[in-house]
Amino acid sequence: MCGIFGYIGPKQVSNMLVEGLRRLEYRGYDSTGIAVKNGNISIFKKVGKVADMESILPRAIHGTVGIAHTRWATHGGVTDENAHPHESFDSKVVIVHNGIIENSRSLRKHLVSQGIELNSETDSEALAHMIAIELNQDNNPLEAVKRCLKSAIGTWGLCALFKEHDVIVVARNGSPIVLGQGDGETFVSSDPHALTPHTQRVVYLDDGQVAVLDSNGIEVSRLHGGQIDTNVTLLENEWGVADLGDYSHFMLKEIYEQPEALRQCVRGRMDLATGNGRLRGLKIKPAELRKVPHIRIIGCGTALHAGMIGQLVIEKMARLPAVSHVASEFRHNDPVIDPEALHFAISQSGETADTLSAVKEIQLKGGQVHGVVNVVGSTIARQCGTGVYIHSGPEQAVASTKAFSNMVAALSMFAIQIARSRDLTKEKAIEYISALEEIPDLIEQYLQDQGPIMEAVDALKDAKSVLFLGRGVSAPVAAEGALKLMEVAYIPCLAYPAGEMKHGPIALLEKGSPVVIIAPDDHVKQKTISAIHECRARGAKIILIHEQGDDISQEGDISIAVPKVHNLFSPLLTVVPLQLIAYHTALQLGCDVDRPRNLAKSVTVE
Ligand code: G6P
Repeated sequence: MCGIFGYIGPKQVSNMLVEGLRRLEYRGYDSTGIAVKNGNISIFKKVGKVADMESILPRAIHGTVGIAHTRWATHGGVTDENAHPHESFDSKVVIVHNGIIENSRSLRKHLVSQGIELNSETDSEALAHMIAIELNQDNNPLEAVKRCLKSAIGTWGLCALFKEHDVIVVARNGSPIVLGQGDGETFVSSDPHALTPHTQRVVYLDDGQVAVLDSNGIEVSRLHGGQIDTNVTLLENEWGVADLGDYSHFMLKEIYEQPEALRQCVRGRMDLATGNGRLRGLKIKPAELRKVPHIRIIGCGTALHAGMIGQLVIEKMARLPAVSHVASEFRHNDPVIDPEALHFAISQSGETADTLSAVKEIQLKGGQVHGVVNVVGSTIARQCGTGVYIHSGPEQAVASTKAFSNMVAALSMFAIQIARSRDLTKEKAIEYISALEEIPDLIEQYLQDQGPIMEAVDALKDAKSVLFLGRGVSAPVAAEGALKLMEVAYIPCLAYPAGEMKHGPIALLEKGSPVVIIAPDDHVKQKTISAIHECRARGAKIILIHEQGDDISQEGDISIAVPKVHNLFSPLLTVVPLQLIAYHTALQLGCDVDRPRNLAKSVTVE
């Protein structure tokens, strides 16, 4: 949520800042700004996306030190004044900030009482003035930032630029910050993704740490204490670049990348000969797995839906109670944590604040929690210490697609592994593994023959609302289909387990109401057919996702077939047409598919 990028070194910085912001834009895109040091500090900022800000930049901005920000508004409306960077009253300090300063009201009041005029409604601006006041005491940038932050309550990923010092001071508390070490140049970013074009050598800042960057290197210290060693980590190459290639949008590209991403996720982690799983990052021995009393899975949005599928797969394969939880509710419900139980925190970005809080709550109560995360080295991955990287590669579209599939695959592999430590036979495990390994080819097959997606789009695009229904593993798929359509096409969508429809949502149905029903050929199909009849009886128009060769196709007004797959893994196929429907509907409605309004890919505030 909000993106930060900064550079200090010998190169001209302005284009690099703009490029860095482009790679971070998915973190927030209400407004954008850069600050470049060139004797004074020049600031350019504007409401809108990176391209809007770029349009106001002069042809040349000289300067080799700079910071940049892309905003997702929390305090204060979306205005040019509220956009970052923010400048101090004496123009000596310029900051960009991610996070929320909870005591900003009293800090702002105090500044006003000292005669300082505030130019924005943000919580962040106060920090610029406070650092400048502290700087006037001893002219020491690091100490000025430290003293300022000791009066602040809240979360920050903060970068400060100084008119009279060739350094950038960076601080982290609850908002991700990663530093990049090049040759004679140093970078800062809220996300390693923006660093990869420049360097693979990174330093992850931890909460409560402050760093001073100059072109020669990075010095890290604690906000409350002394200096600490910098641990340089090498970024994995596979993260690579995320360019659009021949695709018109990242969302479409990522939908098409699902087969390859799934192969990356499963490769080397399943042993077909013995029917065993090898998720080594979990670091749990079979004897310990055997004793686990229950599993809890925690996530938000798409990650939660993947967790809901994982819950069912684990319970079915391992005969072990499993339950999924909305991360934003978890901590506040004061959950009882069993230290023998296993918990999974699922997150594409690895930065979602609600999920991170749940991780900390579990750890505080002595529980074990493992990450199921895409971004290597992200906060949740590091906080958990153990887990499963899902290896989707960079996901740039705000609406998650390929990460969802890999989350489901990762949890399915775990299900096989834990089931084998219990009573699952080798033969049955081999059956599951073979079925899982077939899925990438089946998705490719489907993508070549997608069925009447555009007919479905025609039926949905002008709908007042859309109901999504499914049972068993298809109930979370319905929820995911509804979330996708709502996120990118702004159509109100309701997802219900099919059997629950008659207990309320049926009241919404009238002649022509579109209902999307996911009904693979599994043990609950007949029950789902009853729900279809109930909808049809009220005049609803049925868009049916079903398996190839199944007579159920006659039940739909628009029927979209996916290749037949093992029952437990059907979500990996049935979700794909739903992703395509959301994508094409958004396009038809003229929506910004990759950057939907009000959303951000990485939500680092609670
Ligand atoms: C945001 C996004 C969702 C995403 C959720 C969880 O709300 O808009 O699309 O599913 O965060 O993100 P995570 O990175 O934790 O998977």
